[in-house]
Amino acid sequence: MILNTFERLVVNQPLRPFLQRWLEARPLLKMGGKARGRVLEIGCGQGLGAQILMQDFGVDELHGFDLDRRQLQRAQKRLNGTSKVHLWQGCANQLPTPAHFYDAVFDFNVLHHIPDWQCSLNELARVMKPGAKLYLLETLSFFLNNPLSRILMKHPRQNRFNFQQLCDGMNEAGFEILQHCKLSGSFCWMVAQYGG
Ligand SMILES: C[S@@+](CC[C@H](N)C(=O)[O-])C[C@H]1O[C@@H](n2cnc3c(N)ncnc32)[C@H](O)[C@@H]1O
Repeated sequence: MILNTFERLVVNQPLRPFLQRWLEARPLLKMGGKARGRVLEIGCGQGLGAQILMQDFGVDELHGFDLDRRQLQRAQKRLNGTSKVHLWQGCANQLPTPAHFYDAVFDFNVLHHIPDWQCSLNELARVMKPGAKLYLLETLSFFLNNPLSRILMKHPRQNRFNFQQLCDGMNEAGFEILQHCKLSGSFCWMVAQYGG
């Protein structure tokens, strides 16, 4: 599900590069370390995550996609001329990628926008090499069910997840959670390994 106008303003606002680097990505870097090799970012939005992944995580080759054509155009403009970045418009439930292709996958707040997020996890597992890491920051149902969130933002109403449900979904898709931290039942950061 693509962003409504309010959330589009939130993710594209001028302080976002600072916030994404220090509050969203830095805990993942501390938990999971650098991510070398060929890396996928799902729901790449305006391309800030891609820049952080190359600058801070040492990613060698980055593939990214988003459902939303307008956000993708922003990413293409931002990353224009950056070698070793490949972007496309697509859905996390169906990737145009061979099996066992990626050394790591990043999700900065995307799964909670996807009605069948379990299907996305299975698809990520398919394209990850055995032993590859999934770095994930997600928004949990406690936050999404808040009346103000419901008024301001648009998310699928059914099949959202709390922390335990997300852990269960990851385990079912073949991931072992290596490290995690939570913020007030609303957000969680996780690094997990795909077992193969
Ligand atoms: C909260 S935004 C986060 C964007 C970006 N990761 C960031 O942190 O700035 C969620 C993003 O997921 C994208 N999205 C939603 N459903 C998707 C799907 N099924 N496949 C790929 N991207 C999706 C939206 O278009 C949006 O750009």
